[in-house]
Amino acid sequence: NRTPLMAGNWKMNLNHVEATGVVEKLAWTLKDAKYDASKSEAAVMVPFTDLRTVQTLVEGDKLPLAYGAQDVSVHDKGAYTGEISADMLAKLNVSYVVVGHSERRDYHAESDELINDKAKVVLAAGMTPIICVGEKLEVRKAGEHVPFVLAQIDKVLDGLSADQVGSLVIAYEPVWAIGTGEVATPEDAQEVCGAIRSRVAELVGQEAADAVRIQYGGSVKSSSAPDIMAQPDVDGALVGGASLDPEEFAKIVLFYT
Ligand code: 13P
Repeated sequence: NRTPLMAGNWKMNLNHVEATGVVEKLAWTLKDAKYDASKSEAAVMVPFTDLRTVQTLVEGDKLPLAYGAQDVSVHDKGAYTGEISADMLAKLNVSYVVVGHSERRDYHAESDELINDKAKVVLAAGMTPIICVGEKLEVRKAGEHVPFVLAQIDKVLDGLSADQVGSLVIAYEPVWAIGTGEVATPEDAQEVCGAIRSRVAELVGQEAADAVRIQYGGSVKSSSAPDIMAQPDVDGALVGGASLDPEEFAKIVLFYT
């Protein structure tokens, strides 16, 4: 009874004016297709500057859409120029915060320890972290992807309670599949997502392992989504490029309806 989460990660795309058009089109497309929100949850992870606009649309029109941010500061407040706190996001009724995306790890040198701290501040503020893990191509070629990802899992979940782990979302995003058009096979996605769930059971128990949602991300399109989403340990998708096109993203969300 894990409700799959189909989340669009807009990355640094769509200003707040463009966001309005995309969210409205997405909502209309879902409505026309009789989207059933009890079967899958739709969400968009938007730039900070879009959050207030998206909040107004979602709350004003009661859209069946959650929204979130793509990063957060580990600090509460103070002299951290350019940063955004978890409380600031919670005040905008944000549901989800992506932490540890591979682009943050690569371009901002984010470590597993920092990502663990970010997950903790997101949880403390009453929101749900979407914690990203995934290996690069050289690790996959060496056949080390499962132990590599499990080592990331151990660090990013360090110190979290079973209840906390059960409530969050883990996104398995192999770096070689991000933005490359080279989607993982359903078997590849299942292998790692299944291994993550088993590790969660070892770390904090079976109940949390049964509850935690594990997404696949990396070049997901409406054509590739169904076979991957059908895997037993895959509970939705984190979608980059394809989420910028509301009709294409709607097709991905509607897979479960
Ligand atoms: P693409 O779907 O564009 O490959 O991006 C995946 C991703 O990084 C989502 O967070």
